[in-house]
Amino acid sequence: MHNITQYQQIFSDYLNSKTWQNQPASLYEPVNYILSLGGKRLRPVLTLMSTELFGTDCVVALNAAMSVEVFHNFSLIHDDIMDEAPLRRGQQTVHEKWDLNTGILSGDAMLILAGRFLESYPAETFKPLMSLFNTTAIEVCEGQQYDIDFETRDDVTEEEYLKMIAYKTAVLVGAALKMGAIIADASSKDADAIYKFGLYLGTAFQLQDDFLDAFGDPKTFGKQVGGDILENKKTYLYLKTLELANKDSANEFVQIMNNDHLSKDVKVAQIKSIYESSGSKDATTKAVERFTEKAFAVLDEMTLPKDKKKVLKQFGLQLMNRTV
Ligand code: IPE
Ligand code: IPE
Ligand code: MG
Ligand code: MG
Ligand code: MG
Repeated sequence: MHNITQYQQIFSDYLNSKTWQNQPASLYEPVNYILSLGGKRLRPVLTLMSTELFGTDCVVALNAAMSVEVFHNFSLIHDDIMDEAPLRRGQQTVHEKWDLNTGILSGDAMLILAGRFLESYPAETFKPLMSLFNTTAIEVCEGQQYDIDFETRDDVTEEEYLKMIAYKTAVLVGAALKMGAIIADASSKDADAIYKFGLYLGTAFQLQDDFLDAFGDPKTFGKQVGGDILENKKTYLYLKTLELANKDSANEFVQIMNNDHLSKDVKVAQIKSIYESSGSKDATTKAVERFTEKAFAVLDEMTLPKDKKKVLKQFGLQLMNRTV
């Protein structure tokens, strides 16, 4: 097995070696733009890692890793439209730099390109890969729709929230890992176990994303801090505040959330302060730890060499402690 930095390097070298068709430029420029902004590349790294975990050279998984990362970047372009987000990876979002139609169509093209990367696999591998890709893609749409539907609801339960983030985020993390298992021809028991590991890890990841959306450092975070507050997103921070705050402070919280006359900065600052005083901020950190532990428990049950598990655990710990 390689280490995490090496997997990142192997993937980015491969990505950089790819040339995209360039006409019409207005379709492909945003594709190049979003992919060149980098990001953590965590999903393709997981695909490469998982392939080697099950005993196959990670080079064989490069096209699947591309598929996963291009799909992820497609979802970000459309997500930024839906969330009215101005910033992504420290730069303008695609629909801000160009316009809405460009974001829609370049995103569509990326979704299709993502699927095409799987065409390079032999039929017996292509079929399960494509099937997993399609199942995952439709689930991401379902999760994204729940996310939008929840903006206008004030009775979202923790269970509903957990389902929403499983679909919009965790299934792709699970699929990235399972693709590696498929490519390495692992047993279906192992493939299912690594998928489950990914679901828990992806859930922890989205909880930490919610946390950072409010408490990340604007200088390094790369996205608009407080964006979820301004969009009335039903994040874990939001739900836990309603659960933990006393009656007065819960009322105040709802009033501030519904107050359209406050400036963005004041609103975000006031809400963040209630997230802290209610204990919701700490509860979110605890939830990230809890789901990371659940992921590790799945690994512990798998019969894999210790050193291989170690690389995956290290990855999970890095995610839990990330600031971006
Ligand atoms: C952002 O994903 C979207 C979520 C599912 C939270 P990442 O945080 O992995 O974004 P990049 O690719 O590193 O920019
Ligand atoms: C995004 O969730 C999930 C997908 C892109 C499918 P968020 O809306 O929280 O992601 P960020 O915070 O914009 O990266
Ligand atoms: Mg978003
Ligand atoms: Mg979103
Ligand atoms: Mg977010």
